[in-house]
Amino acid sequence: MAKLKNRILIFALVAMLPSATWAQTAKPVSYHRDIVPLLKRSCTGCHHPGKLKGELDVTTYAAFLKGGKHGASFKAGSPKESRVIEEISGDEPSMPKEGDPLSKAEVALFERWIAEGAKDDSPAQATLAFSKAKPPIYKKPPVISALAFSPDGKTLAVSGYHEVLLHSEEGTNALARLVGESPRIESLAYSADGKWLAVSGGAPSQFGEIQIWSTSSNGLVKSFKISSDSLYGVSFSPDGQRIAFGCADKTMRIISTSDGKELIKLDNHSDWVFGTLWTVDGKRVLTGSRDRAMKLIDAANGQFIDDINKLLEGVLCIARHPKEDLVVYGGDMGAARIYKIAENQGRTAANNDVNMQREFERQPGPIRAISYAPDGNTIAVGGMGGEVRIYKTSDGARVATCAGHDGAVFTLAFHPTRKLIATGGFDGLVRWFDTSSGELVKKFVPVPLKSEPMQKAAK
Ligand code: HEC
Repeated sequence: MAKLKNRILIFALVAMLPSATWAQTAKPVSYHRDIVPLLKRSCTGCHHPGKLKGELDVTTYAAFLKGGKHGASFKAGSPKESRVIEEISGDEPSMPKEGDPLSKAEVALFERWIAEGAKDDSPAQATLAFSKAKPPIYKKPPVISALAFSPDGKTLAVSGYHEVLLHSEEGTNALARLVGESPRIESLAYSADGKWLAVSGGAPSQFGEIQIWSTSSNGLVKSFKISSDSLYGVSFSPDGQRIAFGCADKTMRIISTSDGKELIKLDNHSDWVFGTLWTVDGKRVLTGSRDRAMKLIDAANGQFIDDINKLLEGVLCIARHPKEDLVVYGGDMGAARIYKIAENQGRTAANNDVNMQREFERQPGPIRAISYAPDGNTIAVGGMGGEVRIYKTSDGARVATCAGHDGAVFTLAFHPTRKLIATGGFDGLVRWFDTSSGELVKKFVPVPLKSEPMQKAAK
């Protein structure tokens, strides 16, 4: 009898629970404060622009409302008619598909938020620390991690903090500031037709981001949040329709340029992936990783083909020959080597590095930047040693030394038509050197410093 009474009591208590919670938190439920953190914790992993399970994206209010394959996720005022409640409640809720179900109190929050009208109270662009109207302010030049010339050579894109700065060919005219969400910009790449500029970056251990900018309007076309760490070594497929990049989570991914859909995810590497490039025909992708391997992948299905090199040292940067399937890499022990991008046929033979074509003079420290000249006859190498050195690919002879950097060089870019190379790194200055003599042509600070507002170029 006592037992039964207890049971009834428990039943009564359980039945009272939802209303008790309701009464305790009489303040209206806030989407921004209460719901978004739950979505982030339990749902975005499978429902974001790069991974649309059930065709549902919950990373913005608008997308969450729009819903998935079966329409709207919720109907303001009617929890009972809201798909999301149906999915997350019950004894065996169907969502989240994996992992712990939401607690009864959390489900009640969703219900109450919808019952109260499902209002969107997200502060306008809460996450944007800077914007076009409110660009970053610099007291000293930030470290330069990426540089790229547009294919026509008229624009030089330079990484800043939270932005990419575009300079004219002459180097001193600032054309535009592409202010985005990522504080760190790790790599830049123009599409072959020059229409798009892809930017990879992120905020370490928070998010990775790919931004796509239109070069005609200098406007942001798309931003895709991917993984929870910075993205490196972005590259366009030859037709511009896909983008490959490496990630601090040891993966390489290929996404569709138009909608950010993840097409391929490679997780064969055991360390950070710093570089990606496409073969001339666009059918294969090569990755370079700190785990010392350059891995060749079928770009259509993501199938791993082969490590093309013998594993000698961490691969920190890679670049493809302008017209042929040859790659040059820079290593963390200071070696630069050219390889044929092909299956490693010699793996079992005595000489198991058959794809290697040339090895260059060892650099005084890890190599952080490498590139082929547009004619493929020379390569340039820069890194912790602070010099950029230019070598002939035919015999490995050094033809020029570009000196004067104050600290490490992290990036370099050959001008597509003139005999010029742009370099950037720790000291925050862009330098232009003559590629045949190694002479400094000019140097400039690419960001507006607080004391001197950036001059507006008349376009
Ligand atoms: C592990 C992956 C995963 C997680 C985490 C996850 N979902 Fe899903 N979700 C799916 C898949 C897969 C579908 C497609 C339907 C199915 O297979 O059941 C789906 C479908 C849905 C749908 C239906 C969309 C439609 O219109 O068909 C809703 C709503 C939904 N999920 C909400 C959520 C919510 C809310 C969370 C977090 C509490 C969540 N999901 C967490 C994988 C996931």
